[in-house]
Amino acid sequence: MRLKIAVFVSGKGSNLSAIIKAIEDGALGASIVCVVSNNPDAYGLTVAREHGLEVFALSHKGLSRQEHEAKIVEHLQGLGVDFVVLAGYMRVLTSHFLNAFKDADGFFRVINIHPALLPSFKGANGYEDAFAYGVKVSGITVHLVDEEVDHGPILAQRAFPRLADDTIETFKQRGLEVEHALYPEVLAAIANHGIHSLLLNSLKTVRT
Ligand code: GAR
Repeated sequence: MRLKIAVFVSGKGSNLSAIIKAIEDGALGASIVCVVSNNPDAYGLTVAREHGLEVFALSHKGLSRQEHEAKIVEHLQGLGVDFVVLAGYMRVLTSHFLNAFKDADGFFRVINIHPALLPSFKGANGYEDAFAYGVKVSGITVHLVDEEVDHGPILAQRAFPRLADDTIETFKQRGLEVEHALYPEVLAAIANHGIHSLLLNSLKTVRT
């Protein structure tokens, strides 16, 4: 199955680049139907345009959270999005948005990558918080999104070490390399085998 995804970015879009590369290399059977950003200056949008992808950039400034989300949902309607793929999208999504992607199986078709081993080090600074805590092993989590921040059924986790002479920069660089391998792999597994193949527990996490 060729997965139709909308990729959401707020920043430099290195995960978007990794996903595009995997598609172009034939390792990921997916099509990016739209790249969405809340930051019209995000470098990720430049990456998208360079690859001829459709972009939808809408600043959240001056809009309520609900108004902003509604305009994005409206734009995505009709594009046949199978999964929303959050790749450094630094906005918390409310249930108004999530419900637009509610699956009959009882989950939201929204995936996130987080730069720590959840449930540790939630929030916007996963690398910095794990490094400052002094962890010897950290990792990356890819998970389905629910109404709680950095929470929802885990699809994959991959660990990486913090080495004795690491700085935050070298630690983060090691983690990003893991992200760029893991996210396309997870999406390929969904495209090839379905979302259930990645879950240890049944999908009944959506509150009604
Ligand atoms: C990535 O490290 C991603 O895991 C993180 O933002 C970065 C985006 O980088 N996401 C979060 O912290 C979400 N809580 P990118 O724009 O280069 O892909």
